[in-house]
Amino acid sequence: MAFPIHRPRRLRKNETIREMVRETRLSPSDFIVPLFAVHGSGTKKPIDVLPDNYHLSIDMLVDEAKLLRDIGVPAVLIFGIPKGKDLAAAESFAPDGISQLAIEAIKKGVPDMIVIADTCMSMYTPNGFSGIVENGKLLNDPSLEILGKIALAQAQAGADMLAPSAMLDGQIETMRSILDDNGHTDTAIMAYAAKYASCLYDPFFKQGSGPAVDYTVKKTHQMDIGNSDEAMREIALDVEEGADIIMVKPGLFYLDIVFRAKQEFDLPLAVYNVSGEYAMMAAAAKLGFLNKKDLIMEALLSCKRAGADMIITYCAKDATAFLRA
Ligand code: PBG
Repeated sequence: MAFPIHRPRRLRKNETIREMVRETRLSPSDFIVPLFAVHGSGTKKPIDVLPDNYHLSIDMLVDEAKLLRDIGVPAVLIFGIPKGKDLAAAESFAPDGISQLAIEAIKKGVPDMIVIADTCMSMYTPNGFSGIVENGKLLNDPSLEILGKIALAQAQAGADMLAPSAMLDGQIETMRSILDDNGHTDTAIMAYAAKYASCLYDPFFKQGSGPAVDYTVKKTHQMDIGNSDEAMREIALDVEEGADIIMVKPGLFYLDIVFRAKQEFDLPLAVYNVSGEYAMMAAAAKLGFLNKKDLIMEALLSCKRAGADMIITYCAKDATAFLRA
């Protein structure tokens, strides 16, 4: 006997009433913006596989961070593109490594911007691997040693938060203990807790003039795309090891994992709307197949509706402009 008494359409008759009953809303404060730092000055080089994103020298990076802060974005995620790459990822933990310089400059120029650092070797190794690789396998424990050095260098540079993206076993514990031993007890860790061996990172690799992704290696440390229970085990381990924020990556194809993580864990949850997701949206919009504004806003809202408390996204500037329009 629900109908004709119940008519859900009563609450959909115009935008005002729809807004009153809307359960999920986006805000600029939901967004974390990935920024790519390069050496030099005066550089703002467009990244062709990530439209409207740039390689920025430190001066331009600080300007960008200021602009983002002014439009209400609370945090940036820094990826450094080094001068040179080597198997030991030497620049990743050097005090004057690109990531450290970027962190310092943003904290100085825009102190209330939360600076999150990508804590990983992958930008610094010639093959793009997130660790030391031997015979097609990423070696866990030797890679952890380098990870600890990167974490310390980034904390010393003033990062508010570190985001280890390698999916090494024990990475949170390793970082937490090295940070604490050196007095950085307030440096937070955003754990890439459930990161899948996804094809959706390809544009990210291409922008860093990196090589093609080697999936045979990637699959030895990142999660199998068929697994959901395992994601919960991975997250539980990171929580136990001391993660402050947990992350699911990628986003849109993995919203079931986001939903589950939100149900099962009582920690702030981030989702990474990765480069391949952005590339698909940008391409569809450019071809006129889909409306850019509607597409971006629906994608980001869906991440939040699934349970994300924050969204790492390459389209935060567009989304913020759409929210204000
Ligand atoms: C690794 C890292 C990757 C991304 C962020 N950090 C690639 C990978 O692990 O395979 C991908 C991000 C994106 O695609 O937007 N340091």
